[in-house]
Amino acid sequence: MSAPAGLPRLLAPSPANHREHVARYGSLPGLRKRAERAEFVAMVERSGLRGRGGGGFPTGRKLRAVADGGRHPVVVANGAEGEPASRKDHVLLRYSPHLVIDGAAVAARAVGAEEIHFVVDRRDAEGLAALDAALRERAPEMPSPGAWRVDVVPNRYVAGEESAVVNFLNGGEAKPVTVPPRPYERGVRGRATLVQNVETLANLALIARYGPEWFGAVGTTDEPGSVLTTTVGAVARPGVFEFALGTPFTEVIEGAGGPTEPLGALLVGGYFGTWLDLPTAERLVLAHGVLHRAGATLGCGVVVAVPALCCGVTETARVARYLASESAGQCGPCVYGLDAIASALEALAAGRAPNGTIATVERWLGDVAGRGACHLPDAVVGFVRSSLAVFADDYVLHERKGPCAAVTHAPVLPLPDPATRDRSWR
Ligand SMILES: Cc1cc2nc3c(=O)[nH]c(=O)nc-3n(C[C@H](O)[C@H](O)[C@H](O)COP(=O)(O)O)c2cc1C
Ligand code: SF4
Repeated sequence: MSAPAGLPRLLAPSPANHREHVARYGSLPGLRKRAERAEFVAMVERSGLRGRGGGGFPTGRKLRAVADGGRHPVVVANGAEGEPASRKDHVLLRYSPHLVIDGAAVAARAVGAEEIHFVVDRRDAEGLAALDAALRERAPEMPSPGAWRVDVVPNRYVAGEESAVVNFLNGGEAKPVTVPPRPYERGVRGRATLVQNVETLANLALIARYGPEWFGAVGTTDEPGSVLTTTVGAVARPGVFEFALGTPFTEVIEGAGGPTEPLGALLVGGYFGTWLDLPTAERLVLAHGVLHRAGATLGCGVVVAVPALCCGVTETARVARYLASESAGQCGPCVYGLDAIASALEALAAGRAPNGTIATVERWLGDVAGRGACHLPDAVVGFVRSSLAVFADDYVLHERKGPCAAVTHAPVLPLPDPATRDRSWR
């Protein structure tokens, strides 16, 4: 079995069943001996794999912490995908469930876990069906009946945050809880719990077979491997794509068929992410380090192409209201601060905000920054602050003269349908 060269890796055409999957990729290492497990963790550390759920945390380091974290640890494959603009976890579960299961299985072997929870967004019927079918095929691999199970979480923005996932699996609501202890210290039923995004696990499945050198054959020296993007907005072929880390955003947009109209900005990293004006975005690449130095974040790989003729103030106000309404209602700065910021932005968008509103919003952003158990307020801070910078002239125009002509543009940033939106936390 030869290792796949180049890309796609994760989005290669799906094998029809587990037999074909094994015929293509080979079997997973057994990791039965302690030394083999230790060598595997060291190999993942050497590979440079970082989490694909948004935070970019080194996967090897988390594996080591859980492996050293006490008896009977638990593995959670996080496919909650609460970010409304992201579809990559859905696509992976739908088309490559065996890679995700492989990743969870090999992670469990590495840390000595027998219990795996596959956490899936309640609304992802296709992903759930594909995962269920794949797990049924692999029932004989389970250490005991029910040791691998699927848990469906409500479709809420913060439900996929790892402490929320653990709280849910412990019988509570899918709401974040204050950390520490972090899940890798004390998680499901008090056990050390490895929470990894499903894309991270699919990468782990391939690293387990082909090794860190293969993994680093694409990407950059600092950031090896590929990354899935969900590219939407004003592009000809919106969808989920796989790129080498280090790929310029110009190629990301071309990869989605190119712009359908002149672009004014990109939103990168989803709603935990950052607005970038087009000239800046055109100089940047898909990589945590480069984006971080530019004050941005790769997040979960969402890239929204925003037309020049769309109103950035209105788009920002819509999403800020959505984020405020997704507060789990537990932390004061989140409950009151986000609502106030969203209301001020709505007033600016509608052209009925008194002079000084922009400055007030800036001050409130400072007040909520770094607050809240799950840092949802930080999402709003990054998203709104970058909007105030990129659309500075438009904000001033809205405050002084009223709404611009572009407010009638159809909404660009995706949001859940209000009529069918999930309101529950269980
Ligand atoms: C508000 C919030 C929402 C999050 N939602 C998700 C999510 O839907 N899916 C996900 O995999 N990670 C999500 N994360 C990140 C998780 O907390 C966690 O870091 C991740 O699942 C770990 O996996 P990784 O190291 O493989 O990225 C979220 C984080 C925050 C702060
Ligand atoms: S910051 Fe907001 S969403 Fe996060 S836990 Fe607190 S109230 Fe809930």
